[in-house]
Amino acid sequence: MNFELTEEQKAVKEAARDFAQNVLKPGVIDRDREQRFPVEEMKQLGELGFLGMMVDPKYGGGGMDTMSYVLAMEEISKVDASTSVCMSVNNSLVCWGLEKFGNEEQKVKFLTPLAKGEKIGAFCLSEPEAGSDATSQRTTAIDMGDYYLVNGTKNWITNGSTASTYIVIAQTNAELGHRGINALIIERGMEGFIVGAKEDKLGIRGSDTHTLMFQDVKVPKANRIGEDGFGFKFAMKTLSGGRIGIAAQALGIAAGGFELAAAYSKERKAFGKEIYKHQAIAFKIADMATEIEAARLLVYRAAADKDAGRNFDQSSAMAKLYASKVAMEQTVEAVQIHGGYGYVKEYHVERLMRDAKITQIYEGTTEVQKIVISRNILAD
Ligand code: CAA
Ligand code: FAD
Repeated sequence: MNFELTEEQKAVKEAARDFAQNVLKPGVIDRDREQRFPVEEMKQLGELGFLGMMVDPKYGGGGMDTMSYVLAMEEISKVDASTSVCMSVNNSLVCWGLEKFGNEEQKVKFLTPLAKGEKIGAFCLSEPEAGSDATSQRTTAIDMGDYYLVNGTKNWITNGSTASTYIVIAQTNAELGHRGINALIIERGMEGFIVGAKEDKLGIRGSDTHTLMFQDVKVPKANRIGEDGFGFKFAMKTLSGGRIGIAAQALGIAAGGFELAAAYSKERKAFGKEIYKHQAIAFKIADMATEIEAARLLVYRAAADKDAGRNFDQSSAMAKLYASKVAMEQTVEAVQIHGGYGYVKEYHVERLMRDAKITQIYEGTTEVQKIVISRNILAD
């Protein structure tokens, strides 16, 4: 597999790096402390084309490949994982799902403003009692002829209060189990749709995570994605792509911590020399670089599978499983290399360490990735 970047991919990476270092970095500590959503920064990301990167230009997107998306996610996540998760949900869960499985009318009406960054999207699968066990949907979408009547609660929804377009997974026919689930597009402002409490989180504190309530919301049939009963497969297939985005986020968090730690090890002196000249620190740097490179290759491989039209269920799960482990372990090392300075906000690495943890939980926990990988390997 050839991972030599094209000139276009290099330019995307450079533009994302520039945006992260010059626009996101100056306010990232304050946004984290104040749990403030990056309103202005998301608007700029949209204007630069980073919110609909892979969407066909005829629907307002950038027409780029998954590899370009991964490169941008890595650079943004090195600095601000709160912004990158909002970007990831919009690109790979909402825009990609709509473009791949939506009909022409839905693409014109809903996808186009999302791809242009004029609106933000959210993906609503998890519920208070249905997280990993995603087929146990309690939210109902009762077929009323020309509309669905939606009732229920969704938990932990990223972009919960800032989105305008929500893809909501709900059970229409419980007797059919997962084959009775639908994916519906619900718009902000529909009667009976209530944005509930905001979560106070360990990490990615600048992102906007909310409970959502649906009380007798009337959703037109035209807002159903795919055939009746396609909702669970829609969610699974979309999540396979989403996991590449989160794997790239984890890679970026790890690489961001590494860049800071390597630079610090050359500045900080102890016992009369820069700390990197102590072999214990030099070996940490070597281990970090090796682990991060291994994660990068898995992430690129998953992106390459998707771009080549190969099945990416397994490679995306492997990339997310491994990159999230690397993010968690290597950001701990980045804090360690910074000593006491690593424990305070000014040096950024404590935030990266807190942000890393979520990559082992959302879009399928570490254990869920192992279920996906082992089932793929062991399938008859
Ligand atoms: N593509 C297409 N179909 C798929 C599929 C895929 N990748 N994976 C499963 N399916 C199909 C199966 O073929 C099966 O259909 P049939 O019976 O018709 O063959 C159906 O879906 C049910 O599959 P399983 O029997 O494997 O289902 P399960 O109950 O054992 O669960 C699971 C499997 C992998 C654990 C799944 O429930 C899962 O992924 N859980 C985690 C949910 C998750 O990732 N949530 C993330 C929410 S979004 C988010 O988190 C965003 C964010 O933070 C930013
Ligand atoms: P549970 O499923 O209850 O799992 C608890 C523990 O049990 C985990 O360690 C899990 O791995 C383990 N476990 C469960 N089942 C098994 C099994 N069969 N085998 C082995 N171990 C198992 N969801 C959305 O739909 N949209 C979003 O935008 C979104 N954003 C999120 C943002 C944040 C900040 C957070 C925290 C969550 C977000 N989520 C979102 C929800 C997220 O996807 C779920 O939290 C995740 O899928 C896990 O579900 P759960 O929290 O119910 O944990």
